Amino acid sequence: MSDKHLIVLTVNGIDHELLVEARWTLLDVLRHQVELTGTHVGCEHGVCGACTILVDEEPVRACLVYAVQAEGHAIRTVESLGTPTEPNDLQEAFSARHGLQCGFCTPGFLMLAEGFLTQRPTPSREEIREAVSANLCRCTGYQTIVDAIEDTARRRAGQTDPEPEAVR
Ligand code: FES
Ligand code: FES
Repeated sequence: MSDKHLIVLTVNGIDHELLVEARWTLLDVLRHQVELTGTHVGCEHGVCGACTILVDEEPVRACLVYAVQAEGHAIRTVESLGTPTEPNDLQEAFSARHGLQCGFCTPGFLMLAEGFLTQRPTPSREEIREAVSANLCRCTGYQTIVDAIEDTARRRAGQTDPEPEAVR
């Protein structure tokens, strides 16, 4: 028996009319129906954070949300930040600070950081470290990710010196 629902998802400011099964996750619908594959699939049970997106500007694990639950909310994926030729400031900082190696975790970290910086525009380094502990990265050791987020916060706050504080 088909159990499909017609829903409208607002993704990166664009409405998508979609026929989805109630059991389909927002992660799978974003990748396979909306065809935005920047959001990565990792553990699929809420542990790794690779699938982090923003729902109403709050970081959310897309593997833990059913697509039907997301109707009426503003969804942002990593594709909303910038493009390979025109990255946004956060993406540029990740690149400049070497905040990625294999890059598999990176879309999730970018969206986690984007939501975090909206909530805490001038965070301490300790607060950044606490925030990024939500997601798993097997490559970087996290310091460079913290540096990139710290640089972005400083630049957005209008500070010209991008040098991070010493690691405590
Ligand atoms: S894929 Fe969603 S938290 Fe790991
Ligand atoms: S850069 Fe490889 S898992 Fe984070």
